[in-house]
Amino acid sequence: MTINGVAYSHEVEPRLLLVHYIRDVVGLTGTHIGCDTSQCGACTIILNGMAVTCCTLFAVQADGAEILTIEGLAKDGQLHPIQEGFWEKHGLQCGYCTPGMILAAYQLLQRMPNPTESEIRHNLEGNLCRCTGYHNIVKAIQYAAQKMAGK
Ligand code: FES
Ligand code: FES
Repeated sequence: MTINGVAYSHEVEPRLLLVHYIRDVVGLTGTHIGCDTSQCGACTIILNGMAVTCCTLFAVQADGAEILTIEGLAKDGQLHPIQEGFWEKHGLQCGYCTPGMILAAYQLLQRMPNPTESEIRHNLEGNLCRCTGYHNIVKAIQYAAQKMAGK
């Protein structure tokens, strides 16, 4: 499979979960494990263009896939506008859920470049924050949408 533009090939046990492959075999630890049951969204990655939770996928199911993780978002030392939005609007809180939030937002903005506040809230439903709340996260995504639209 390709992760963030780099090809990886390993022999793995059929039962190895994709999140463990990414974190423990490839060594990209920005993808977090929160619940292990596809409920919190902490392990969200982009797999063949779709945001998926990789804690309930097997690594072998991603054979040949193209994956984007949080480590692949910044380019040439420049934060992606969504990352910048989280920085500027204080969307970063505990940091634990943030990579998954950012990647869910990434897919949302691909599909819907100019989402309303309620569309953002609806589309982030699968990503849970346990500590403070979603308000600044929504503002960060609105910031990114404007920046990506060149405003
Ligand atoms: S760790 Fe995958 S959804 Fe929670
Ligand atoms: S900011 Fe990460 S769980 Fe709340």
